[in-house]
Amino acid sequence: MKTSIIRTTVIAATAAALTTAASAQPAAKLKVGLMLPYTGTFAALGNAIENGFKLYLAEQGGKFAGREVEFVKVDDESDPSKATDNVNKLVKRDNVDVLIGTVHSGVALAMAKVAKESGTLLIVPNAGADAVTGAMCAPNIFRSSFSNWQPGYAMGEVMAKRGIKKVATITWKYAAGDESVRGFKEAFEKGGGTVVKELNLPFPNVEFQALLTDIAATKPDAVYTFFAGGGAVKFVKDYSAAGLKKTIPLYGSGFLTDGTLEAQGADAEGLFTALHYADSMDIPKDKSFRLAYAKTYKLQPDVYAVQGYDAAQILGIGLKAVNGDTSKKAEFARAVEAAKIDSPRGAFSLSKAHNPVQDLYLRQVSGKENKLVGIASKALSDPARGCKM
Ligand code: BEZ
Repeated sequence: MKTSIIRTTVIAATAAALTTAASAQPAAKLKVGLMLPYTGTFAALGNAIENGFKLYLAEQGGKFAGREVEFVKVDDESDPSKATDNVNKLVKRDNVDVLIGTVHSGVALAMAKVAKESGTLLIVPNAGADAVTGAMCAPNIFRSSFSNWQPGYAMGEVMAKRGIKKVATITWKYAAGDESVRGFKEAFEKGGGTVVKELNLPFPNVEFQALLTDIAATKPDAVYTFFAGGGAVKFVKDYSAAGLKKTIPLYGSGFLTDGTLEAQGADAEGLFTALHYADSMDIPKDKSFRLAYAKTYKLQPDVYAVQGYDAAQILGIGLKAVNGDTSKKAEFARAVEAAKIDSPRGAFSLSKAHNPVQDLYLRQVSGKENKLVGIASKALSDPARGCKM
């Protein structure tokens, strides 16, 4: 009897000591897989997303829900042919807790497929591929940016309301370009306009000359375009050099002039675009964000930096609700679904399919800024076609 009491006491004391030792251990680091383009036409976009993400993390003292963060970085080169291998390495070899990526829609589709199959948390900080929060939607997949449909649709509404009748479109032939034009066409034709010509070239080609000649011969009332990054810089300069800027007004989704104005100079002056961010918004959160970003990076932020910052906010909100335990996917999702995200673009929430429901702004280039002109489409929600969740 005595022996058994002593043994029980010893076992209890040992267990207590072990528990104390265990609780004294710092929580394991959170492994974040950053899969972004660091080379190629979208390199600047990848860097801005990483900067934004890290700025929010720094504001939280470098931790999410008490867990320090270890980054595993992959340059995805905006190359869909390497995407499945790249994301599988992060998930299977590096065992990341969460995936953050990426910019290019084709690469993001491969990431979403792996995330859906493996159950790994994925937050998309740019790529607009409609299917990510459409047919491929999943409880563990979130987007802090937009769907390709959203800016296209908003600009279609604006141009139809302006009484523009005949439009030619020009873009890269891949998911982002195709879907941006499709969103544009849906709203523009609903508003009474006609798309008279759809031009495209393979991503990331920038040999625009033959297509610009075609536009000049077609003589539409205006042109709608989706290009981004280095390709957008070249397109705006070539459009102006071809003499088209004066005769056929150029409109675009806002990626045409975001993060690019320094390089585009006077050739971008006056262009109208639609996007979920602008450079001159009277939003306190944006003012503090821009100050902090400029102080930290000695750079002005753009939409990509905002989306990176908000990807980190979404991750922080979800992890707080589960005390840092990434295996609690349903609780993580519930917290994010209920949240209002205090974004520099203006507060937004996520749709049932996990895509931002947000205002799309009409902006006009003035000097080095995408100046806010008005709201192109209020609280615009992607239709999430094919999402069953
Ligand atoms: C995309 O591929 O989805 C994309 C790339 C750059 C800017 C916007 C969208």
